[in-house]
Amino acid sequence: MKLLLLNGPNLRLLGTREPDIYGSFTLDDAVALAKTTAEKLGASLDAFQSDIEGELVSAIGQARGIYDGIVINPAAYTHTSVALRDAIAGVGLPTVELHISNTHKREAFRHVSYTAPVCVAQLQGFGLTGYALAVEGLVAYLKQN
Ligand code: DQA
Repeated sequence: MKLLLLNGPNLRLLGTREPDIYGSFTLDDAVALAKTTAEKLGASLDAFQSDIEGELVSAIGQARGIYDGIVINPAAYTHTSVALRDAIAGVGLPTVELHISNTHKREAFRHVSYTAPVCVAQLQGFGLTGYALAVEGLVAYLKQN
């Protein structure tokens, strides 16, 4: 089983970015946790981060035939991107949407997700642990479906 972890804009800044909201862990920490979680469950995981919407759209489009499922933290594009929503719907790979913070406790513009309706699940508010939980959930989903 091969999984793809995608992280969107500004997540490269984790560790120093608004630590009161996102904690002090780095993107490398999150990727390492996702990878070790996947490996413990007998899966492999590749990770890609981009600040550029089109690069994330391309990564999703190119995943078909290579990956069995996707975990994505679309970051700010969650709340704006029809293109990412269409990419997830179009590629047809089971996808879990992940957020470090609980967006429903934050500004109203973060309460809407363009991408969640085309994902199998949305997970948010668990900080770094979410990267392990999202992988566990996706692997369990893929084994059942
Ligand atoms: C985020 C939440 C988004 O609203 C925000 O734009 C991010 C990070 C999260 O992981 O909590 O960049 O996706």
